[in-house]
Amino acid sequence: MCSCEDSLEGMIPSEALKAFKAFINKDIGIACDFLMRHYRGEYWPRRSSTMPPLRRRRGGKTIKLPNPKNLTTPIGIVMRTRRSADDFTGEPISIEDLATILYLAVGITGWTWAYGYERYPLRAYPSAGALQPVEAYPVVNNVVGLESGLYRYDPFDHSLEVLKLGHFNQLLVDLALGQDHVGRAAVVVVLTVYYARTRWKYWKRSLRYVLLDAGSAMENFYLAAVGLGLGVRAVGAFYDNELCRFLGIDCVEEFPVILMLIGRGTTLH
Ligand SMILES: Cc1cc2nc3c(=O)[nH]c(=O)nc-3n(C[C@H](O)[C@H](O)[C@H](O)COP(=O)(O)O)c2cc1C
Repeated sequence: MCSCEDSLEGMIPSEALKAFKAFINKDIGIACDFLMRHYRGEYWPRRSSTMPPLRRRRGGKTIKLPNPKNLTTPIGIVMRTRRSADDFTGEPISIEDLATILYLAVGITGWTWAYGYERYPLRAYPSAGALQPVEAYPVVNNVVGLESGLYRYDPFDHSLEVLKLGHFNQLLVDLALGQDHVGRAAVVVVLTVYYARTRWKYWKRSLRYVLLDAGSAMENFYLAAVGLGLGVRAVGAFYDNELCRFLGIDCVEEFPVILMLIGRGTTLH
């Protein structure tokens, strides 16, 4: 008998075909649903053979960051007292504080083996498939030891890549729909996700995974800043295209997800 199963054989993996046949025997409706999900990539993602590179450089000059500080506040107290700062005083923070926060939020904190790499990094935030799509772009406004400007954190050598120097705090206020506390933070770290890296493996599930990864990194920023006695606030309201243009990213393969405001905080509660 020449059935549709014969033509499916060459098109879908044998486990899928076996499951499809089993469903046909039970319920043709379920079988059709299964097939549609399969072709939408929800069960067996179609992936290309090579993963986008883990280490990305934009070609800028790099500045080595100081070693991270040791935080001594007990984790339970940090978690219990974590709050968003209502505003920022505009006073500076130190480069050591910024280095500590970047390391504890998105830094490389361990190594393993995966994907054919000899040594494969692990990050401070958990990541689906260990694909680590979260990128951090500090926009420095008032950090002792650093010129104002846009940087990119390179976790591989714990350094900052200089993308453009200048005063961008008013631009960031405008990009964040006029929220003026944005301009008083000592530094605003723009978190983006490099969607292409997670999509390579997870296809349709990638969006939820990259956002979960970024959410974990966001919480790390909160905990590290609070542990250092600094103010911190997440800001999710911003103009996507204009922010992408400022960062020099395409908003498709890589797009911004949250701004992390850090500085000397003021609080009403
Ligand atoms: C995804 C997300 C987006 C947010 N966007 C903004 C924002 O655009 N502006 C702002 O001032 N705060 C923003 N916040 C901070 C929240 O308002 C704050 O977390 C909330 O009021 C709870 O207060 P708490 O963090 O002190 O517990 C955001 C927080 C999250 C998690």
